[in-house]
Amino acid sequence: MTSNDHPDRRPARLRLSEVIAALSFALDLTEGQPAGHCLRSCWIGMRVGSELGLSREELHDLYYTLLLKDAGCSSNAARLCELYGHDDLATKRDVKLVDVQRLSQLARFVLQHTGLGEGLIKRFGRLLHVMRNGDRFAGELISARCTRGAQIAIQLGFRPRVADGIYSLDEHWNGKGRPEGRKGEQTPIASRIALLAQIVDVFHTAGGVAAALKEVRGRRGRWFDPAVVDAFERVALDVELWNGLTAPDLDARVRELEPADQSVELTDERLDAIASGFGRIIDAKSPFTAGHSERVADFAVSIGRQLGFGVERLRWLRRSALLHDIGKLGISNAILDKPGKLDESEWHRMRMHPTFTEQILSRIDPFREMARVAAAHHEKLDGTGYPKGLVASEIELESRLITVADIYDALTADRPYRAGMPHAKAVEILESMRGTGVDGVCLDALLAGLERADRNAVAA
Ligand SMILES: [Fe+2]
Ligand SMILES: [Fe+2]
Repeated sequence: MTSNDHPDRRPARLRLSEVIAALSFALDLTEGQPAGHCLRSCWIGMRVGSELGLSREELHDLYYTLLLKDAGCSSNAARLCELYGHDDLATKRDVKLVDVQRLSQLARFVLQHTGLGEGLIKRFGRLLHVMRNGDRFAGELISARCTRGAQIAIQLGFRPRVADGIYSLDEHWNGKGRPEGRKGEQTPIASRIALLAQIVDVFHTAGGVAAALKEVRGRRGRWFDPAVVDAFERVALDVELWNGLTAPDLDARVRELEPADQSVELTDERLDAIASGFGRIIDAKSPFTAGHSERVADFAVSIGRQLGFGVERLRWLRRSALLHDIGKLGISNAILDKPGKLDESEWHRMRMHPTFTEQILSRIDPFREMARVAAAHHEKLDGTGYPKGLVASEIELESRLITVADIYDALTADRPYRAGMPHAKAVEILESMRGTGVDGVCLDALLAGLERADRNAVAA
């Protein structure tokens, strides 16, 4: 697709719930959870909320609290990996199976997830450090996650009650949770339900119905509000609750759970805000990618303008560029932030991120084209790119354009341990790839756009 008079891409009507439910799969990846965890938590939590007699409005807020409960999860991944010296995805996955109020469970978890693969002395030192400061570290990590998650919810256009629900997800009924140590009903009802729903899903996935019920009962009155547990016990008698968790059409079932009178049809502005919000979630994953998605989107739009794209086409281009690396949420920070060269298996995993991008975005029917465009940002014209090894005739203009923007930003952006490359050097590298790695027309448009921006900056 190379013509400038490309027809505008206005998709069929989209519902907010459809987009958020699909993007919640990116949050599952970041949490190291089996795909569909947020969706299943929503399925469980909404039934509990209805059983408790929540109002339509409360149910609406609960619905999005459940789907977005992990919105802040990327913001502590790098730190988690640094502190514990272990794969953040595995740590995040396994911590959900731990009753952190039980010292023996907590100690075993720390032993099994700290400094694995490090030499004996280094590991011992790290373990000691974690044992001494574990409480402070946990507070720091949870606080980052909750605060960021709440901010993201507001940026995505949700009511403060949804943000509060996400902020208080890790509070416990007995006041021993975080980040505030809120007790009892000081914690919003949506958070109390979401906490229970996520534990039910995790234990059900790991050990079936009996394991889930045992865990809920064991934490009643400590982690969980007794009234929420009782409501869950009633709901758990219905076999449909459990059947739904493994139903192939769970997506559709969860979409139906959104209170109909509160259902929201997406405007273009809201969709833009959602793409930006998820762009921030992606960029928060690693200090190496801070601001990357936003800058790639800016460069891509500048190139698109130079090439004469219309307003609607630019809009979709911007969204595609913001979300091109959403699949990186499924890559461990042990790989993303590794100071040295990646080994073969790490590189193999890294090269999967565009595939994850395509899988996540294509869950939304009207996003299928965007999924294809975004997932091809590491393809090269000569067929040596990844993940599919596409050749020039198979790579769309939008993808070529995002590739140029992506490489330019990767070269010029400052990183935690090094300053960005000067513009001239980055251009030299891009020029060496002209016609083989990157599209010359897109490269010329990038350079023309940067020159124009420079002139404008001087004039201002
Ligand atoms: Fe990428
Ligand atoms: Fe990128």
